[in-house]
Amino acid sequence: MIKFILNEKEIATDLPSGFLLLDFVRYQKHLTGTKIGCREGDCGACTVLVGDVVNGEMEYRSMTSCLLPLGNVQFKHVVTVEGINLEKLNPIQQFMSDEGATQCGFCTPGFVVSLSGFCLSKEAPTYENAITSIDGNICRCTGYKSIERATAKIAQLMQQKKDGENQIEFVTKHHILPNYFSEIKNRLEGLRENNSEDSSKKKNRKILGGGTDLYVQQHETMVHTDIHFLFNEPILKGVKVSGDKCYIGAAATVTDILKSDAFKKHFPRTTSHIKLVSSTPIRNMATVAGNFVNASPIGDLSIFFLALDAQLMLTDGNKKRKIALRKFYKGYKDLDKSPEEYIEYIEFNLPKKNSFFNFEKVSKRTHLDIASVNTACLLEINNGYIESASLSAGGVGPIPMYLANASSYLVGKELSAENFSAAIQIATEEISPMSDARGSKEYKTLLLQQLIKAHFVSLFPELNFEKLMID
Ligand code: FES
Ligand code: FES
Repeated sequence: MIKFILNEKEIATDLPSGFLLLDFVRYQKHLTGTKIGCREGDCGACTVLVGDVVNGEMEYRSMTSCLLPLGNVQFKHVVTVEGINLEKLNPIQQFMSDEGATQCGFCTPGFVVSLSGFCLSKEAPTYENAITSIDGNICRCTGYKSIERATAKIAQLMQQKKDGENQIEFVTKHHILPNYFSEIKNRLEGLRENNSEDSSKKKNRKILGGGTDLYVQQHETMVHTDIHFLFNEPILKGVKVSGDKCYIGAAATVTDILKSDAFKKHFPRTTSHIKLVSSTPIRNMATVAGNFVNASPIGDLSIFFLALDAQLMLTDGNKKRKIALRKFYKGYKDLDKSPEEYIEYIEFNLPKKNSFFNFEKVSKRTHLDIASVNTACLLEINNGYIESASLSAGGVGPIPMYLANASSYLVGKELSAENFSAAIQIATEEISPMSDARGSKEYKTLLLQQLIKAHFVSLFPELNFEKLMID
């Protein structure tokens, strides 16, 4: 049985664990406020909140229920738009109405749920953070100005919360969300007691991380499948630093990276880089390991971690072996991994003080889109010379590529426009882009050249490479 709390009610269902939450809430529970738009995680009409007890406190994250299997909400709190209703409109709903931020209303439940997630979060109650909370919601009618005005009012309301005041106490005390939210933590803990899963049943199940691409590509198969979810395994969660190494559990999501203090410290541009990866609700579900195993040639995180020379610890539950991400891809969607093996954790050496890291991506639209070409770069510099270099690129071959020739060319070279221009030339010779919906092979080649140039220009602005390097 899969057990969770849906709004105020406890649920126990024996539907397949791969069955989608969206279909469960609409067709089994007749909660039709959650809308169906794209079924691909792109529009946000189906947004729900998923709450879990993390370090003794409730933590809510927005997720697109069209890509969220029931098994991934086991022992959690699911909030649909019906679950935030009070007797009258709550302030979030009222501001949307006052500002004319709803017309046909199809997108509105998704916006209201995402904004409720902002009110429940520990993020600073700034306008920017409130806007970020709705970066996965699309509206076709209103234009976004009215939604932005309503969002600004919600941010102002949340600014009344005192520092350190518990957000659930605040939103219930001020009648922003219903009182039942205060009891959810205890109820979830009660639900978990005596309900641990029989580990023998985990065998022979399909292993899944976030599933954000698999549910788009293989929807019909997935919804009937019994799945073992790495997403729920506490031991596989989190980002940890020990000495000069960083360890990322297989169930760590992209949001976990975004919020990780270790990443913010060692990769100061983490926020701007990771915000190019999908949208908030997808980042809340998608796992780093899932991105590796999905093996898309344009997987943003694969490209990011190829430049960091990440190592993967694979296990079949008994035996373990370590493999470099750079050796993991044998061909298009062909991995050095047996069907029984899964990634337990990812490790990499944290960049040294004299290291410079950058990630670049171009897609048809800036946010919530897959890359036409993406690339990452890690350079270690000593006295104006390059001690080590790693360049990676996606969208320019059948696999996420480590640009071995361009990288090794740079080692030992002086930091100069001529050497960078030569490296770009060598990179061009080791790729094999294909023409497709995201651009012709000539366009992708040119794009990669420009993006590698962008690494150098962005990392060393004082050296004025922009003017010196070839076009
Ligand atoms: Fe569009 Fe789920 S239906 S994101
Ligand atoms: Fe119609 Fe947003 S109000 S799609």
